Amino acid sequence: MIPVNPERFLAELHELRRFGASGVGKGVVRPAYSKADIEARQWLAGRMKAAGLKTHFDPVGSLFGLAGEKSLLMGSHSDSQPEGGWLDGALGVMAALEVARASRETGGPPVSVVSFQDEEGRFGVTTGSTVWSGKLSLEAADELTDRDGVGFAEARASMAHLTGDFVDPAQFDGFIEMHIEQGPWLYEAGESVGVVESIVGIRDMRITFEGEQNHAGTTPMHRRRDAFQGLAEFNARINARFRNVVTPATVWTIGHVSLHPDAHSIVPGRAVFSMQWRDGDAGRLARMEEIIRETAQEVATERELDLSIGPMLGLEPMDMDAHLRAALEGAAEEAAPGRWRRMPSGALHDATNVARLMPSAMLFVPSIDGISHAFEEDTDERDLVAGLKVLAGAVERLQG
Ligand code: GLV
Ligand code: MN
Ligand code: MN
Repeated sequence: MIPVNPERFLAELHELRRFGASGVGKGVVRPAYSKADIEARQWLAGRMKAAGLKTHFDPVGSLFGLAGEKSLLMGSHSDSQPEGGWLDGALGVMAALEVARASRETGGPPVSVVSFQDEEGRFGVTTGSTVWSGKLSLEAADELTDRDGVGFAEARASMAHLTGDFVDPAQFDGFIEMHIEQGPWLYEAGESVGVVESIVGIRDMRITFEGEQNHAGTTPMHRRRDAFQGLAEFNARINARFRNVVTPATVWTIGHVSLHPDAHSIVPGRAVFSMQWRDGDAGRLARMEEIIRETAQEVATERELDLSIGPMLGLEPMDMDAHLRAALEGAAEEAAPGRWRRMPSGALHDATNVARLMPSAMLFVPSIDGISHAFEEDTDERDLVAGLKVLAGAVERLQG
């Protein structure tokens, strides 16, 4: 087996946490293009170089450590949610680096490493790998804005001194991404490893109800055009209407709400909010979209609100490659006999996009209490090391 070094891997993983370390426990605040994110990428580039890889930032700031010959690509992302944990993305990057380095040191198969930019969707959904895969053009991406109105073009310009051209995907045989599960299933079952069969699809949009800003003391209820009341009504109605359409695996979230002008004594004139939904079935995603659009229009008409709906972003459900999966399954049985399972991914990952370019697969380790996208996110270090060994074992099997 490629002789990975668990102590070195864990020490570096903790070191990466220093960039943006925040909040309780092992929390991290390292959103795409923040100072902490760019500094972390520069530190990572240094680690890649020290491992003998040739580093390259593409036009959006995704960082590649290239083996310099036809190779397997492994990695994930190093940006975080506005409040995130230390492992979401970081784990896959550091595990890939350890496998690439250990393999190089011992004359094993060439492995390249990547940390994609904006996987966490400050500007969209897995922006860096979506652009690399060709699903979204750079010109279209440049039109995206974050929730504060900052443009993608402006944000990526902050890395312009580091970046070059897009990397040619033809130099890679396939892609493997290791990640924390971010859900409860492995942890609750006391299992160590999950081999991902498929990744759900996602739809994501921004909706705006525009009403009339007015005095909260003097405006009679019947004369109000309250944008928040529109949002509340919309939410209640879609929850009721989805009941006939969804399965227990379907999820939907209004995770961001901005009321204008956001004050106790003012009837809100504007409500801007995110609407996101996920499912493994593209037909169901489409049916939910119809319900969302119809309901928003209905509420707007009844309450005399103006409605606008921003561009719909999304990724299709994606099956993982059977050959790469088989290598991961064999390695999982060796490293954690009887303590692994095949499973779907309810979280989005760069592997969805990379699967458009090359065979792609994923490996999960448990999340303690199923918590992620929160400062409390963590994984037992024995499981982190088990995952590292499965990753190394899979590379070895694919070489044979
Ligand atoms: C990625 O972090 C996701 O939202 O699933
Ligand atoms: Mn992630
Ligand atoms: Mn995430």
